Order: sequence, then C-alpha cells, then structure tokens
Amino acid sequence: MPSNPLRPIVPAADPVQERNGVPLNEPLQERNGVPLNRPLPTIRLHPGNDCIVQVLDQRKLPFDVMMNDLLTAADAASAIRDMQVRGAPLIGVTAAYGMYLAACAETGSDIVGYYHQAQQSLAVTRPTAVDLFAALKRSATAILAAPDRSARIAAALQTAQILAEESIAACRAIGEHGLPFIADLAKAKNGAPVNILTHCNAGYLACIEYGTATAPIYLAHENGIPVHVWVDETRPRNQGARLTAFELAQRGVPHTVIADNTGGHLMQHGLVDLLITGTDRTTRCGDVANKIGTYLKALAAFDNGIPFYVAAPSSSIDWNSCNGLRDIEIEQRDAHELRFMEGADGDAVKEVRIYPEHSPAANFAFDVTPARLVTAIITERGVCPASEEGLRRLFPK
Ligand code: MRU
Repeated sequence: MPSNPLRPIVPAADPVQERNGVPLNEPLQERNGVPLNRPLPTIRLHPGNDCIVQVLDQRKLPFDVMMNDLLTAADAASAIRDMQVRGAPLIGVTAAYGMYLAACAETGSDIVGYYHQAQQSLAVTRPTAVDLFAALKRSATAILAAPDRSARIAAALQTAQILAEESIAACRAIGEHGLPFIADLAKAKNGAPVNILTHCNAGYLACIEYGTATAPIYLAHENGIPVHVWVDETRPRNQGARLTAFELAQRGVPHTVIADNTGGHLMQHGLVDLLITGTDRTTRCGDVANKIGTYLKALAAFDNGIPFYVAAPSSSIDWNSCNGLRDIEIEQRDAHELRFMEGADGDAVKEVRIYPEHSPAANFAFDVTPARLVTAIITERGVCPASEEGLRRLFPK
C-alpha cells in the first residue's frame, strides 16, 4: 500500500451511491424513444433497403442517438474519415461495407480498375488502424473472384457480414481470456472493487459487440465481480468521456471519468489495479499503436508495477511490421479537434474555441507503446507475451 493513501475520492466505486435520488450505477434507460439499456447497432443494413448501410453517428454521442445512411462507397469513406465510425475493428467492417456499396453501384467494363479505385478511396481515409487495409484486401479478393455482377455483390456483402461476425466472436473470446485477470484481483482484494483504467474507447462502439478492452470488464460485471473503471477523457476527441462513459453507463458499470493526466497519480496511490486498452495496430513483435496517450499510461503502469494489458483481436495485428516506431504511420488530424470542444448546453449541442485563435496546434492521433511495457496481449486465441514468439505461438500461420 502507498505510504500516503489519498482520501476516498471515488464516488462511483460504491455501487449504492446516489445523485439526486438516482442510483449512479443504474443502466441508462432511453433517449428520444431509443432504448439505451442495451447496445446500439454500430453498423447494419437499412431495415427496408439492403443497398443502404446505416452507421451509428458516434460524433453525436452521448448527446444524440442517430443512424446515418450510407449510399455509396464515397459515403462510407466519409463516415470513416469524419469519424462517424471509429475504432479499429469497426473501421474495417465499415470499409468492407463500403466495398459492398461499390458493388451495388458497379459500372463500366474495367471491373478490376473499378474495384481498385473503390478500395483506394477507402484505404486513404485513415492510416493507422491495420484492420482497414486487411478488410479491404479481403473484400477485393472475394469480389474479384466472383464470376458476375450479382455474385460480386453477394461476395462483397458476405465478406462484410463475416468480418462483423468474426469481430463479435473475437471480442467475446477476448472477454473470456481477460476475465481471469480481473477475477484473480477481486479474490486478492476480498471482493473490493477492482479498479481498471482504460484509455480512449475500445468498447462495443469501436466494434460490433462487447468491445475489446471492455469485454473482460463486461463479463466480470455480468458475473457479479465488482469492478470500477477509470475512464480517461481522451483528448482531443474525448472518446473516453463521450463514448466509453456512455457505454459503461448503458450497462450500469461503475466508472469515473478522469482528465487524461490523472492516471499516473492514481497509480502512485494504489487506486489502479490493472490497465486494459485496445489497439489500432500491434506489430508481430508486440509493439502497440493506440490512441495518443496510451504510451504515457504504459510508462506510469510500468513504474508502479501495475499490469498493462492490451486487448488485440488478430484483425489488429500487423504481421508485416516489427518495429512499431519505425513501421507504423501515425495519423495527424486537423488542429480543429484540439482548438474546439463540443458539449451540451441544455438541449443544444455547442462547439466553443478553447484557446487563442492564432496559436498553432499539433494533433497526433496515436502513439506507439513498445512491447517491453506491455504485460501481455489478450487475443481471441488466448493470452501471450508481447513478443513475436508469444504471438506466433497463438497464431502459427
Ligand atoms: O481515433 P479512434 O477513435 O479511431 O481511435 C480508437 C482507438 O484508439 C481504440 O483504442 C482502438 O481503435 C481499439 S478499438 C477496439
């Protein structure tokens, strides 16, 4: 135990806390008639027209729940680029649905050129998450192996749906493989809540169901193991505060939002038992690219002897790269995301500038955590050390 423990500051760690008479850990119920006490669809075919794909517009959460129609591959590309959808697995599935939309609109006789162009337009949307490129390659291969137009449409749709199913299965398995880490800590703490710190959103909103980093947490919660999640705000887009907090609240999982720089302080004071994050790209040697700030959390965890786990479905493993710092392209996004913040003012959602108009800003979206700082990688095939040997043992091919 730390020599100078902090005064109790964790309201959500107590499952019976109330605010204004409302239990803090009661699952969200509904917004504008949409039930929120269960996961929302992140992507689906339009219920009345299967040549339209619908995505949950994550830019609106948690203030509004809105499905956007995607009619063309260009719409799918915009949805990824503008972050209507985000999170590595969901980006991959959306890209595959983009190829399906391209198939629905197929024109001309240069079939190979047509799909190459569609693939390229989707590939340039975001550079870091490797799921995007793998999904596009798989889709293009399936489409071009089909003998005629209707078979190409069917192959494109089937590929997108299989990718979605595979993501669900992988997340579920990651939950099962990650659960024992939480269960063991709960036992060691004699049933006191296990404090887990996560960064960004690697929940179901970044996937199709369960999420990657959240899957073991949801499973623990469902099994009656007391957990409490420290949710990094995750500037500049606040995926932690806006998305992870939202989905934990949907399920009634106790959590507390913290400013991004708080984690190290909490770790020094014994208030974090383990960290679990997702990944956008993990090299075959175990280096992990994830949302900017992950590296600093891993450093602090290492310094404090706290386990740092990365939940990585195989779709996020880049077998062609080893040295993450050298091989992974780090996305730089528009400074607008830093300069402006969005929030609710009563019923209205407003954006405000938060620093001097002419101050330049640099917006790096990801960083690389070297394998040596990663305690273990949790995949759908089990848990392994963050090393080429460890990953190859689980994925020999
Ligand atoms: O920029 P984003 O919101 O797409 O970044 C998402 C992340 O960094 C997630 O942690 C990662 O994609 C894993 S999602 C299961």
